[in-house]
Amino acid sequence: MKFYYVLHPRPVVIIGSGSVNKNEINFFACSWITPVDDDNKIIGFSCWKGNYSYKLIKKYQQFSVNVVEDINLIWKVGTSTGEKIDKVKEFGIEYFVGKKLDIPIIKKSLAYMECKVVKEVEFGETSFFFGKVENWEGNFDNYGIKEFWKYPLHKAGKAFVFPSKEIKFSLG
Ligand SMILES: Cc1cc2nc3c(=O)[nH]c(=O)nc-3n(C[C@H](O)[C@H](O)[C@H](O)COP(=O)(O)O)c2cc1C
Repeated sequence: MKFYYVLHPRPVVIIGSGSVNKNEINFFACSWITPVDDDNKIIGFSCWKGNYSYKLIKKYQQFSVNVVEDINLIWKVGTSTGEKIDKVKEFGIEYFVGKKLDIPIIKKSLAYMECKVVKEVEFGETSFFFGKVENWEGNFDNYGIKEFWKYPLHKAGKAFVFPSKEIKFSLG
């Protein structure tokens, strides 16, 4: 058993990196991601330095966060490397360029963020990137994402779960 099982299941997203203009684009699966600061709109995620995405994020200092229901795609981009294959072509990923940043956004995302890297903290073979959210979109109501049942959570290994119940307390 791993220590981090205590913190799973947790939201799993696809992180986009590179530059659409330069046609250097990659995607990887990430579940060690979290909001950090509300006022400054900071989020953070853990990135293994061996990832091809790590190189692209270091190079362009930006990334996108894509929430997709498609756990097969999550698994594919999370078990292959952009170092060896073009994931966009290989997995037929449709994307568009961000509104604020020159980063790829997955078309079928339920919600997404465009982020600029503001800090990197290293822990051996891993880095934690902090990003400032420059733009975010999604199908939300006052209680967050509308189609919450489509939001995938990573349990462990090849196991995922989806939320099945919403309990609303009044916001006032
Ligand atoms: C469900 C899932 C969650 C993952 N979460 C992370 C993560 O939080 N951080 C990370 O560095 N790698 C994570 N990975 C592994 C990367 O997605 C994987 O190493 C990927 O092949 C990197 O691709 P790249 O070399 O093209 O960047 C995860 C993989 C899966 C399947």
